Amino acid sequence: MNHAQSPQRLIDRFGRLHNNLRISVTDRCNIRCFYCMPADNVEFMPKEHLLTFEEIERIVRVGTTLGIDRIRLTGGEPLVRRDLHVLVQRLAAVPGIRDIGLTTNGILLDEQAQLLKDAGLKRLNISLDALDPEVFKAVTRRDGYERVLAGIEAARKAGFSPIKLNAVSVRGLTENQIVPFGHMARETETVVRFIEFMPLDSDGQWQRDKVLFAHEIIAILESEFGPLRPVVATTDRGDAKDLLPVIGAVTTQAPAQDYEFADGRGRIGLIASVSQPFCASCNRFRVTADGKFRNCLFSHEETDVKTTLRSGGTDDDVAELMLECIAAKNEGHEINTANFVQPDRPMHSIGG
Ligand code: 5AD
Ligand code: SF4
Repeated sequence: MNHAQSPQRLIDRFGRLHNNLRISVTDRCNIRCFYCMPADNVEFMPKEHLLTFEEIERIVRVGTTLGIDRIRLTGGEPLVRRDLHVLVQRLAAVPGIRDIGLTTNGILLDEQAQLLKDAGLKRLNISLDALDPEVFKAVTRRDGYERVLAGIEAARKAGFSPIKLNAVSVRGLTENQIVPFGHMARETETVVRFIEFMPLDSDGQWQRDKVLFAHEIIAILESEFGPLRPVVATTDRGDAKDLLPVIGAVTTQAPAQDYEFADGRGRIGLIASVSQPFCASCNRFRVTADGKFRNCLFSHEETDVKTTLRSGGTDDDVAELMLECIAAKNEGHEINTANFVQPDRPMHSIGG
C-alpha cells in the first residue's frame, strides 16, 4: 500500500487521532528520581540498541505521512545523548513537523540551551520537583539542584518562553514545595505544572495514598493565594483541530488544566493523570530509545520497529507497524481499577 497516495491517519478504535510523537532518545540519566528509576545499579540499554539519529528521522518522516506533526524528545534524560541539538535540527527540517519540544531535568541545560534554541527547539519543559535543595535531593538522590537553576536561567536567556516546570507531587514529600512554586509562578514568567505521581517507578513504591491529588494542590494554593480561576483554552495539545476527522468524540482537553490566580498574576497547571485521567483525549504515540512503538505509557505490549528498520524494511512497512500499534491501543490506563498492572518498564526506559 502506498501511504502517500491513500492518506491514512493514526486513528484508534476510539476515534482518537494521534498527531503527537514522543521520542525517547536514551534511557540514561544523570540523576535518579525515585518515581522513575532505581537509586543504583541500573542496567542501561547497550548503545547499539539505541535508534540512531537517521533511524529516528526516518520514523518521523513516515509519521508525518500519517498525521504526526508534533514531536517531543524525552529520555531518560535527553541531554545526555551526545549532540542532541543535531537531532533537533534534523527533525525541525522534516516537512510537516510544526512543533518540537523537549522534556529535560535541566542539569545539562546551561551548556545546551542556546544550541537547542538555534537548532529549532520550540518548547522546553524542565522537571523540578522541589525548590528546597534538601527535598530535591530526597527525590533525585543526587546533587544537581544548582545546575538545574542555572539551566533554567540559561533557557530564559536563550529565549525559551514560556518555560514550563514539571513538578511531580508526592504526599509526605512535596506538600511544602507547593506554595514556594506558587510564588515562583507569580513572580516570574515560569508556568509551574504539578503532576500526580503515577505508578511508573521501578522500586514498586507507588501507592495510591502517596499521590498528592490535584484538588489537594489547588486547596493548598488557594489557602495561600486566594481563588484560582481555570483557564479555558488549554496549552499542551497544540492546534490539531484542523486535522481531526469527523468521527468519534475527540475533545481538545489537554493533560494540563491551567489556572490563573485571581489577580491575574501567574499561571499554574495541574496534570491529574491519576484522579482525572485524560485518556479520552490522548493524542500521544511513543517510540522508545531501543526502537519499540508504544501506544500508551501503561501498555504491556510494544511493536518492534528497530528490527524492521535494520533489515531493509520499507517506509510502508514502518507505517504499517505504526498503524498496527495504534489499532491495538486500549481505551485508557486502569490505574483506578482492580485490573491495574504496572508496566514492566519503569519511566526512564519508556520515555516520559
Ligand atoms: N509519575 C509522574 N510523573 C513522572 N515523571 C516521571 N516519572 C513519573 C511518575 N512516576 C515525569 C517527570 C518528568 C516527565 C518526563 O515525567 O517529572 O517531568
Ligand atoms: Fe531522570 Fe527524568 Fe527519570 Fe528523573 S524523571 S530519573 S530526571 S529521566
